[in-house]
Amino acid sequence: MLHHTEETLGLLVCPVFDSIKEIPERLGFGESQFAGSMKTLWYMGAKGRLVPDISEMIADITPKGQLVFDIFGGTGAVSQSLVSDYTVYANDVQCYSSVVLGATVEHGPRSSSRLRALLNFDKDIRPRFDKHKAVLLKAFKEPIEKEREGLREALDGRLENYRRFVQETPIYPCAKKDLAPLWKNAAPYLTEDAFTGFKGKQSRDQQHLMTSYYQGVYFSLEQAIELDSLRVAISEIEGHYAARKRRHYLAALLCAASTSTSGTSHFAQPRNLKRDRELKAVAKRRASSITGVMKDYSGKLKEYLSQTKFHSGNKVYKSDYRSLLSRVRRRPATIYADPPYTSDNYSRFYHVLEVLARYDYPRLARRRDGQLSKGRYPERDYRFQSGFCAAPKVENEFRRLAHSSSRLGSSLVVSYALPTGLLFKRFLPGCGTEKRALQQFLGIFRECYKKVSLVQRSLMHSGQGDSNHRVSELLVRCRLPRKAAGCAI
Ligand SMILES: C[S@@+](CC[C@H](N)C(=O)[O-])C[C@H]1O[C@@H](n2cnc3c(N)ncnc32)[C@H](O)[C@@H]1O
Repeated sequence: MLHHTEETLGLLVCPVFDSIKEIPERLGFGESQFAGSMKTLWYMGAKGRLVPDISEMIADITPKGQLVFDIFGGTGAVSQSLVSDYTVYANDVQCYSSVVLGATVEHGPRSSSRLRALLNFDKDIRPRFDKHKAVLLKAFKEPIEKEREGLREALDGRLENYRRFVQETPIYPCAKKDLAPLWKNAAPYLTEDAFTGFKGKQSRDQQHLMTSYYQGVYFSLEQAIELDSLRVAISEIEGHYAARKRRHYLAALLCAASTSTSGTSHFAQPRNLKRDRELKAVAKRRASSITGVMKDYSGKLKEYLSQTKFHSGNKVYKSDYRSLLSRVRRRPATIYADPPYTSDNYSRFYHVLEVLARYDYPRLARRRDGQLSKGRYPERDYRFQSGFCAAPKVENEFRRLAHSSSRLGSSLVVSYALPTGLLFKRFLPGCGTEKRALQQFLGIFRECYKKVSLVQRSLMHSGQGDSNHRVSELLVRCRLPRKAAGCAI
């Protein structure tokens, strides 16, 4: 059960991989992912290692066949463990997550085998992908050749040419006059004019969002071109089961982008390329083929579908949990809540995945000096700000969660971390000890539930950079909602 201590390797920095088999275990996605499940995004706070404990706790209080809500679904790790025994409604406020949840959760007993039989990458994707890639490769012919050569040499340990290529790569938005001759043909894609007034007018053949925004930032030029070409090919799938196929491939593409970033393991900011070690690491990431990794993920998804027996009625939502719980028609027997722990909004760390999923050319945020931010974030109103990530709001957010769940008459299981959870950072100075802060935390749930119990497990969490720290993962189990619970929210 949950008392023993477990350690992980923590955050590995920049491994080489050409297929998903070689992608390291990290970010909480440890080995104890259960049989028949599939690892999807590289994600902070993914519950891979804790899934057996969480599903056991849910099973203890939820009769088989009942409805379970996973309201902060993320990678879908927890939902995947539930879909055979329960009807699962999975939700996340981020579009990329809801696509991944859709591809792994929203199936019925028959639809998953039907979909599997119809998926064929070479027919569904390849022709349109090749056509689009050819258009973009034509505009970027010379830089692509230089990049390929530089990467080949860098993988052999010779870094000079690749370093020069990286230093001279123009990053959107550039002035046409500043473009070196090598890049002149690509001017329409790299200058700000490429985007002014274009919305809706651009032909399908010209889609270039990832290439313009993120080549040389989070991906190589060729990877960014592949991302655009695959995204266009996915959006043009038509015919039988088209919507399900599009979701399947888009989920595979999002997983490929998430594991191929040459940031560290997310998109909070691009990596520094000054030191040889950094340049080598980035070259290894950028030498991988997004198409190859995406195909691998599509295969993994198919394998997962073939091994999973889906209960009927599963659904996926893309919603703020607050509005979801206020408009739900069917009472969930149990709600599983795994909200963000820290002040880091997922919309900032994974903004590139959101842009790739929505593919809507958002305006990029500018700093005070008028320059685009180094992380190339979309403007603030594009990025969802979670109340769980804001110190002044987090306590109220937990109250609202407990209150809304009890009002529905549902049991509630909550994951959180001690002492790193933002709410504990608020409580600790006043409480003095972790023990008292924990009691204050549990008190929030006791306002709304008659029976509240806790299990704790000690784990190593990977921090930013290479730092690891020990935290206590909490699982709070809340049963017997109080009638007319008077939580102040
Ligand atoms: C800790 S992660 C969940 C990880 C997930 N259990 C897994 O195993 O992959 C928290 C998730 O909550 C989502 N989120 C944050 N605020 C939200 C809100 N108000 N409503 C719905 N989802 C939210 C984030 O987008 C993020 O995916």
